[in-house]
Amino acid sequence: MTRHFLNLSDAGGDAIAAMLSDALDRKNARKGLPKGRADKDAPLADHVLAMIFEKSSTRTRVSFDIAIRQLGGTSIVMDSGSMQLGRGETVADTAKVLSRMCDAVMIRTDDHEKIEELAGNASVPVINGLTDLSHPCQIVADLLTLIEHGKPLPGLEVAWLGDGNNVLNSIVEAAGLMKFNVRIGCPEGYDPDQEFIAAAQAAGANVTLYRDAMEAVADADVIVADTWVSMGQAHADAKMDAMMPFQVNDVIMEQAKSDAVFLHCLPAHRGEEVMPSVIDGSQSLVWDEAENRIHAQKSVLRWAFGQI
Ligand code: CP
Ligand code: NVA
Repeated sequence: MTRHFLNLSDAGGDAIAAMLSDALDRKNARKGLPKGRADKDAPLADHVLAMIFEKSSTRTRVSFDIAIRQLGGTSIVMDSGSMQLGRGETVADTAKVLSRMCDAVMIRTDDHEKIEELAGNASVPVINGLTDLSHPCQIVADLLTLIEHGKPLPGLEVAWLGDGNNVLNSIVEAAGLMKFNVRIGCPEGYDPDQEFIAAAQAAGANVTLYRDAMEAVADADVIVADTWVSMGQAHADAKMDAMMPFQVNDVIMEQAKSDAVFLHCLPAHRGEEVMPSVIDGSQSLVWDEAENRIHAQKSVLRWAFGQI
């Protein structure tokens, strides 16, 4: 059966653990090599990854491009505006054509239903490079970063401050699969998706909502933030005002454990969701997190091709 990666649960906890260990091994094995050089075993030699972007991207675009090269394959990167998709060709027809021409498709889009339709009509793996609902590839990189920095996942207290968005939904999903807890500090009206919360809780994770930022981060091992205005959302002063008490600053960091770390998927807005002293400070892992997109995405690709 074709392996699509639309959400983390498509792989499940065991496969994600295997991806993380594969990513670490491969990262260590190629230390010092030029970024574009293929890994010795080139496990996806001659494979072509098509990438479709309906929204902007720096990290997802570059990390998948480098990832497929390091695995021995190549990529074709397309903005939907320059494709027939952008002129009204259907998602289903696009899926069928790309399935005949390429070996896998990664897409960044808006409605999650669109990626489900693409996957439903594709005979090659479809990978979610972010939708309005979720961002699973980012979270594989985040988990890799935590493990690499000596934070085993089971029982970890992960605090999120800010908007209940796509990135948070995937963190909550990961909590259920990898057995860590999520403490969400967000203003009323900006909660994450209830279905992800219910699934994580049913799997035994503690997922708790707080309306007070200090309570949310008390004794946390990890503090995570993201933009208050995701791509496709309108800027609204009322939302910015509601989010301001959930800004990650030095006072917030002091409430967490003394060895707590800070994560942010980037792009960041210094002075909004996070202060420069935090994101550019000693507890921040954001540059490792960004680099790990490459290593995590390689393992997602290997999983999609049945190699993990
Ligand atoms: N974190 C992330 O997905 O970054 P880009 O939007 O640059 O791809
Ligand atoms: N929540 C953000 C993540 C960007 C990588 C957005 O969707 O714009």
